Amino acid sequence: MPALIVGNWKMNGLGEDIAEIAAMAGSSVRNLWVAPPFTLVDRAVIVAAGAIKIGGQDCHARDKGAHTGCVSAAMLADLGAGFVIVGHSERRRDNGETDADVRAKAMAGQAAGLEVILCIGETRGERDAGETAAVLTAQLAGSLPEDSNGLIIAYEPVWAIGTGLVPTLADVSAAHAHVRSQLVARYGPAGHGVRILYGGSVTPANAGDLLAVDEVGGVLVGGASLTADSLLAIATAAP
Ligand code: 13P
Repeated sequence: MPALIVGNWKMNGLGEDIAEIAAMAGSSVRNLWVAPPFTLVDRAVIVAAGAIKIGGQDCHARDKGAHTGCVSAAMLADLGAGFVIVGHSERRRDNGETDADVRAKAMAGQAAGLEVILCIGETRGERDAGETAAVLTAQLAGSLPEDSNGLIIAYEPVWAIGTGLVPTLADVSAAHAHVRSQLVARYGPAGHGVRILYGGSVTPANAGDLLAVDEVGGVLVGGASLTADSLLAIATAAP
């Protein structure tokens, strides 16, 4: 399975930045997905022209209703999005999302026919206390959807996001192996088919090493995904 390179633009990007997505789509790289802000999803789908998959950074758990300011998975699918990110640590922190919320969003994404990237990861304090595996176990127990259709897990240590800090390759390997064991315990053999991404301060300089780690099926990239040059450099660093 070739590595999957996913860009999460977070709250970045205006109309002029669509040119970056057009440049990504115009390259020969075909394993790129990008989640621009909601405001750019429709334009991004058009310029991506099927060459790269466009997704949302979040969705509501319900299809429609009285939820001012929210966007449903069905709405994303209606725009031509192919995936949605749920449970990002910035949403857990800024919007108080719980594992149960994340699970409901993941299932809404699946019901809308989207692939779902479900994010988990420990804080610095939890890592220092030796609780990484226990935290990942608890997050997965609380947030995994009923079945693994279209499911992708992103392991993003909270302390590695936007900090320039990256776990050792041995720590990444251990975390991914732990996630895999939990997926197999939960889904049986189908758990082997769930891709696991690493995220947190991925750059063109470190992507090759990270992507070579056992059980790392790709990367979820924030800051270094905002330009075509940078994200394509990450994609071509894949071993
Ligand atoms: P950075 O790559 O900017 O550290 O962000 C990672 C991330 O949160 C991707 O979802």
